[in-house]
Amino acid sequence: MLWGGRFERGPHPEMVAFTRSVDVDLRLLPYDIAATKAHARVLVAAGLLEDSDLPALDAALDDISSAWGSGTLEPAPEDEDVHSLVERLLTERLGDLGRRIHAGRSRNDLVATDLRLWCRDAAAEMVDALTELVGFLCDFAEGQLETVMPGFTHLQRAQPVSMGFHIVAHACALVRDIDRFKAAFASSDVSPLGAGALAGNTLGLDPTVAATELNFGATFVNATDAVADRDFAADLLYACATTMTHLSRVAEEVVLWTSSEFGFARIADDWSTGSSMMPQKRNPDVAELIRGRAPGVVADLGALLGILKGLPLAYDRDLQEDKEVVFHGFDTTIGCVRATRGLLGALRFDKDALTEAARGGGGWATDLAERLVTRGVPFREAHETIGGIVASLERSAVSIADADLAGADPRLKPDDAVDVADPRTLVARRASHGGPAPSEVERQIRTLRSAIARLPRTD
Ligand code: ARG
Repeated sequence: MLWGGRFERGPHPEMVAFTRSVDVDLRLLPYDIAATKAHARVLVAAGLLEDSDLPALDAALDDISSAWGSGTLEPAPEDEDVHSLVERLLTERLGDLGRRIHAGRSRNDLVATDLRLWCRDAAAEMVDALTELVGFLCDFAEGQLETVMPGFTHLQRAQPVSMGFHIVAHACALVRDIDRFKAAFASSDVSPLGAGALAGNTLGLDPTVAATELNFGATFVNATDAVADRDFAADLLYACATTMTHLSRVAEEVVLWTSSEFGFARIADDWSTGSSMMPQKRNPDVAELIRGRAPGVVADLGALLGILKGLPLAYDRDLQEDKEVVFHGFDTTIGCVRATRGLLGALRFDKDALTEAARGGGGWATDLAERLVTRGVPFREAHETIGGIVASLERSAVSIADADLAGADPRLKPDDAVDVADPRTLVARRASHGGPAPSEVERQIRTLRSAIARLPRTD
């Protein structure tokens, strides 16, 4: 029991069960061990422990850590959280030395330290996973520079693009996510250890000793802020929520493309699911689960901000609820990043169907209007003229390749029709900045590759 002295009666078992968090925060154990080792060095620097105490402390902490690693560490009923568990085990192993460790330290600065260390590792792991996914998307896009497909707005066919171009669009969003995780890493990278409960200590402790031991980039400025702040966790969850939003959009397209209505792609057997009743089915369950898990992560962010918004400074027990949402948000997101890589690797395009779809839907109309613009026609008038041609071809069911454009408008030439009829030509001509022409998409891919090659401080 951590606080027996001022109470006459022990805690009610129902209250103990209600307030306990060890099942969730046991995951922080390696970080609690690291923070405890660092704090021991702070105490040595302040003359409150001997240098010669460190080997025994370290050995006991390593022993606890390996028991955790091998799954043999069972919390006792009185262990409220991971911090009280580690302190109890340390005291059981070392007696008085274990009882000295909490001097100048509170679970308030300790839990903030553990969670920051965890978030820092989580952000670095996510940067790696996303970098791998973006690298894969760049390779994937490179192989699809000439695969034409309809580009959509309002899910109506708009202008022909290439699959490579379309994939690069998704990759751009994920590169921004990588930047968000780097930012989340940076905001976690400040040591709160030494803040105590909320107002420091009288023991002459030097918090920079702990910050250096734990490889933090900085030390807290204000002790109350240090224990009350969870912005770093919100930053991580925001990055998770945007990533999930992006993956969900990718997933939605996989669902659409693999439907027989679109018929753009098929998922290889090992990433497709079947139906227990309908023998013919090939279902995109992985994509649907990614789409279905996205709102849960957005909710994790909402829950954390909701926890924080009403809290008086400094620490409040509400903050204990941060870990469940942070862990859930991270676990779900990294699982979906990896599943997206697997799913997209299993996607097989039907290039003929894509080309056919790109040919239909009047995707040539804007290019034809722009052609009139280059011949001196004001755009609004060109738009009107081509709109009329689209309507009349639709009425007569004549394709653009067979259209008598010069007959429809003297400013158009007979070979304009053939020229705009092939979606490949339309794509190749759109070499404007950021456009779908293969050479331009290659440039975009180079930009993305150099963006992911820039080394972050996530070491
Ligand atoms: N288990 C708590 C948490 O996760 C840390 C303990 C702080 N408790 C306290 N009564 N000050 O936030």
